[in-house]
Amino acid sequence: MTNTPPRLFLSPPHMSGNELRYIEEAFASNYVAPTGPMIAKFEADFCAYTGFSHAVALTSGTAAIHLALRLLGVTSGDVVIASSLTFIGSIAPILYQHATPIFIDAHPESWCMDADLLEETLTDLTRKNIRPKAVLPTDLYGQSCDIEALKKVCDRFDLPLIIDAAESVGARYQGVHTGRGATAAAFSFNGNKIITSSGGGMLASDDEALIEQARFLSQQARDPAPHYEHSTYGYNYRMSNIVAAIGCAQLEVIEDRVAARRAIFAHYSRELADIEGISFAPEMAYGRHTHWLSVMLLDPAIIKKSPEALRQFLEAHNIESRPVWKPMHLQPALKHYQMIGGKVSEDIFARGLCLPSGSAMTKADVTRVCTLIRECLSV
Ligand SMILES: Cc1ncc(COP(=O)(O)O)c(C=O)c1O
Repeated sequence: MTNTPPRLFLSPPHMSGNELRYIEEAFASNYVAPTGPMIAKFEADFCAYTGFSHAVALTSGTAAIHLALRLLGVTSGDVVIASSLTFIGSIAPILYQHATPIFIDAHPESWCMDADLLEETLTDLTRKNIRPKAVLPTDLYGQSCDIEALKKVCDRFDLPLIIDAAESVGARYQGVHTGRGATAAAFSFNGNKIITSSGGGMLASDDEALIEQARFLSQQARDPAPHYEHSTYGYNYRMSNIVAAIGCAQLEVIEDRVAARRAIFAHYSRELADIEGISFAPEMAYGRHTHWLSVMLLDPAIIKKSPEALRQFLEAHNIESRPVWKPMHLQPALKHYQMIGGKVSEDIFARGLCLPSGSAMTKADVTRVCTLIRECLSV
């Protein structure tokens, strides 16, 4: 019998221990469906943790973005400015609304939307008499985008800023939770995220009316009446009470999870620091990166192995790693949309690899990955 070490996943769920207890509480109260007190608790706890004054718990981060766009009146023919270096869940809601995305390249240090490029784009669109409906930057891999810089540009053009913070629960920007100061922010508790409710999302804002409208739309837009009355149509996007119970337990340990992911990133960076041609995702001075995923870059001028060869090597040792998000402007379904810049995202995609980053990883696990990286790169 071979002794294969257990599989190391990229970012598996990491339970706190209280999840089952809260699920049992939900069952005992028979609030299995349709709604229930765990949802209200999850929303209140999330507001307390992030500092937002209002939040609505939803079935996914994608749903949160969709509701935000719908409530901003994004509709057929409208333009929404978005990040190219992101996951499709950020962009699909623009298409659900039959609107047109314009993609903006990443800033070379933060890897999030470049505020200068945004300003140039909006100036250019204004000249052409095109007024976008919203700006939707992504916080990438656990780092906040430069909210102040982006907001300054949005304010100048009088545009709402919706932050796709799906990947950045726990990240901070200038001392507060990421997303604060924007019109709204969308978060994800998908199974691969820093905390997970098994699947789910949250739309948060300081605008009470916006969140109340989102809550209304998330429950099929039922007008107050004893029968089913609809003055508009909505969606079945509300989080279930059972899912919220998991979310409540996960939120209790978010700071531990951030500390663990940051420690894993520090371990990789330290242990591989001497290898010329390897670098890591930078942390901006303006905030706290959670390093939801630890991302490494290989310089092809120095390192002859490609990120894909390294990925396959790790896979052969039962270790999951992943390429960086393939930029949206390179996606077959999206490549006809306008892209502003592109070299930075393309370079990060070509040179990047996301390493196993789960918060339950031991030091020995990280060391094993580092040893295999050295072996593969022969350094
Ligand atoms: C940047 C980004 N946006 C949106 C989403 C969508 O979130 P969800 O999977 O909860 O719909 C994700 C992740 O899944 C993401 O990484």
